[in-house]
Amino acid sequence: MVAHAQRHEKSGPVYEGQTAASKMQQLWSLASERQQSQAWLWTPFTLGIFFENVAVTTQRVADTYEDTLIGRRFKFVHSVGSLAKFQYTTTANAEGYTGIFASGCDNGIIRFSTAKEFITSKSSADQAYDNFIPAIAMKFLRSGVHSGNVMGMYGVNGIHSWNFFKEDFSNHIPGSDGILLNLIGTALQSATPFVQYLGLSDIAKYDQDGNEAANIKFPFKLVFEPQLRNLFPETFTLDYQEQLATIASNTVLYKVYAYDGPHSVNKVEIGQLKITSQIMKSEFGDKFLFFKHQDIREDIALKPEWQGSYDRASVTSTQCPVAILSNGFKYLMEVFKSMIF
Ligand code: HEM
Repeated sequence: MVAHAQRHEKSGPVYEGQTAASKMQQLWSLASERQQSQAWLWTPFTLGIFFENVAVTTQRVADTYEDTLIGRRFKFVHSVGSLAKFQYTTTANAEGYTGIFASGCDNGIIRFSTAKEFITSKSSADQAYDNFIPAIAMKFLRSGVHSGNVMGMYGVNGIHSWNFFKEDFSNHIPGSDGILLNLIGTALQSATPFVQYLGLSDIAKYDQDGNEAANIKFPFKLVFEPQLRNLFPETFTLDYQEQLATIASNTVLYKVYAYDGPHSVNKVEIGQLKITSQIMKSEFGDKFLFFKHQDIREDIALKPEWQGSYDRASVTSTQCPVAILSNGFKYLMEVFKSMIF
């Protein structure tokens, strides 16, 4: 920890204690300063995911990374993305979910990213698979308490299209397919054995005014259904960040659906997400804005009956330095192969 907080450091009780609107003003001011993306990391540098403390992603409570004595934390994956402000409004429903699910959220920030750098010369829809891996991260700012965060993806292998809005996203994703992603999966398992799921109970714990729910109620799983599904072409024509920048503020981007439990057959519409700014590149978003991943074990602690409904990662994590190095080497080989073929 450095002695004095840097301008970008938004964490700690004094910061958390402020109103959601004030926190938004501070974050958005920083986000808007340099509306450009950081460069993708040099490929061998992405090896850092094997050596960093990945558990920070599930354990740290803050809206930004803090600098440490060895400098700032890098996003080794999802290194480049775009930001927008959003409003989440609830749709009338009888599910009784609490916190943000009940109050909605007037001060949200969404980041649109891809898990890795993509190769645009592979321009057909089929060549997008294993190449273009879109994702969203949402931050619900709340007064007096820490923000709620959740991420959505289709899957870590990406989609058979260059259209960011082609598929529904969810906080539950299927297992990975391929050596490269399985290796990354082993790195993530140092944080949790359930790497395909993100928890929702923290979002249900406090509403946007910071009121704590007496009896937390949260869904098993969310689905984000794009409302502009056919806006962009299937083949590569333009970088997705340039495409997203053409969408007007006040556009509803996603309807949000919930599955109440592991055996629920029907999903129920519970809300919608409308951007309240245009979608812009942001160096602050790439370098400093942090989206906490809630470990699904926190949901399981509150809903022990859901325990058997989550797949554990199939590959076992290891802390052995030789194995980490060996995995890192295999990872690099796979990255280079994917760039060539
Ligand atoms: C539970 C195990 C997981 C671990 C340990 C993990 C780890 C990471 C790490 C290290 C990052 C880079 C940024 C950072 O350091 O915070 C990241 C970013 C991200 N992850 Fe995960 N991940 C996990 C599961 C998931 C799942 C299941 C999803 C989607 C449903 C997901 C979606 C994302 C997204 C969208 C980002 C980009 C966040 C941003 O825009 O800054 N992750 N993850």
